[in-house]
Amino acid sequence: VSGDIYPKLPLSLSEYEELAGSVLDKPAYDYYRSGANDEITLAENLQAYKRIQLYPRILVDVEKRDLTTTVLGQEISMPIMIAPTAFHKMACPSGEIATAQAAEKNQTLMVLSSLSTTTPEEVAASTSGPLWFQLYIYKDRDLTKRVIHRVEELGYKALCITVDAPLLGRRERDVRNTFSLPKGLTIATVGDYLEKAMAENAKNSSLNVYFTNLLDQSVTWRDVEWIRSISELPIILKGVHRTDDAIRAVEHGFDGIVVSNHGGRQLDTVPATINLLPSISDAVNGRLEIFLDGGIRRGTDVIKALALGARAVLIGRPILWGLAVGGYEGASAVLRLIRDETDLAMALCGISNVSEATKDLIGYRTA
Ligand SMILES: Cc1cc2nc3c(=O)[nH]c(=O)nc-3n(C[C@H](O)[C@H](O)[C@H](O)COP(=O)(O)O)c2cc1C
Repeated sequence: VSGDIYPKLPLSLSEYEELAGSVLDKPAYDYYRSGANDEITLAENLQAYKRIQLYPRILVDVEKRDLTTTVLGQEISMPIMIAPTAFHKMACPSGEIATAQAAEKNQTLMVLSSLSTTTPEEVAASTSGPLWFQLYIYKDRDLTKRVIHRVEELGYKALCITVDAPLLGRRERDVRNTFSLPKGLTIATVGDYLEKAMAENAKNSSLNVYFTNLLDQSVTWRDVEWIRSISELPIILKGVHRTDDAIRAVEHGFDGIVVSNHGGRQLDTVPATINLLPSISDAVNGRLEIFLDGGIRRGTDVIKALALGARAVLIGRPILWGLAVGGYEGASAVLRLIRDETDLAMALCGISNVSEATKDLIGYRTA
């Protein structure tokens, strides 16, 4: 039978990216894929995994493998979650609802972005799977409080406060494209509020108005403490790079951190997150849960992150590629693919349980 009658499904997450590039229009594709400035960190996030080598154990019974784990007490079917990313309706019409349903189908967790094009209400209504909410802190603290209380009431299970973006990193592809949200789409959580702010700043794109005029550049540890004082939800700080900050997060009693450089979109030339993980994991020493994102594209990457101290990882762009290629089905297929790769990598590493991914599996290529 000629191979042509079969659809040529992507075989890897990078093939999903390639295909997405052929279906998205240029400004949307560029917005999703770009990093800040010279995109050195963007590339480094991927390169770093190639320098890490695996040392598999032999003659281990791997007939049955268990990928399930818990994150802040929540059981998920694999140590892979969906990172908060903006504007899913730019990738497919059902946007964040398609993503939430893909997460539910794969029994994992979605972190909904503050920059979603669907309201937290609509997303919560579309799924019975667990959701976390990614929060930015607004200058207007009443607005911040209202958003927190809304998502609490809707049953979101944790707040993930992003702390690496006091301002938007400069992504030169977006500047060149004069990127703005396509007509009809909006930052849904704060839609009306943003429209008012934009009326006063007619010359700027909504994204710039949002970051510069609505978000608070003066946020400190005091403000994240304040959030803890007004919410019962567990709190995770996303965007930790340094051991001293990780220790501070422990001392302030936060529940988790995400070692993240925002997928290379904020401060360029920061190290790959996987290279930051070992020392942060040593410093934290089990006192809070450590998650990691940035450049996870293969099952072997997942194993490496777990072995070096992450409880689970998150994937950002690959979900957007899946949405662009096939909406709900595409995002589900991406999750399924990375799950299957992780399962196979576990078998070949000689581990049958995610807790068996330990540091002794890891080596570093020197040349
Ligand atoms: C298009 C895009 C939009 C993003 N939007 C947000 C956001 O709204 N909030 C946030 O905390 N992180 C955001 N991020 C960062 C992701 O949460 C995550 O840190 C990053 O995508 C992980 O790297 P990866 O894309 O290589 O998997 C965004 C990333 C991308 C690519």
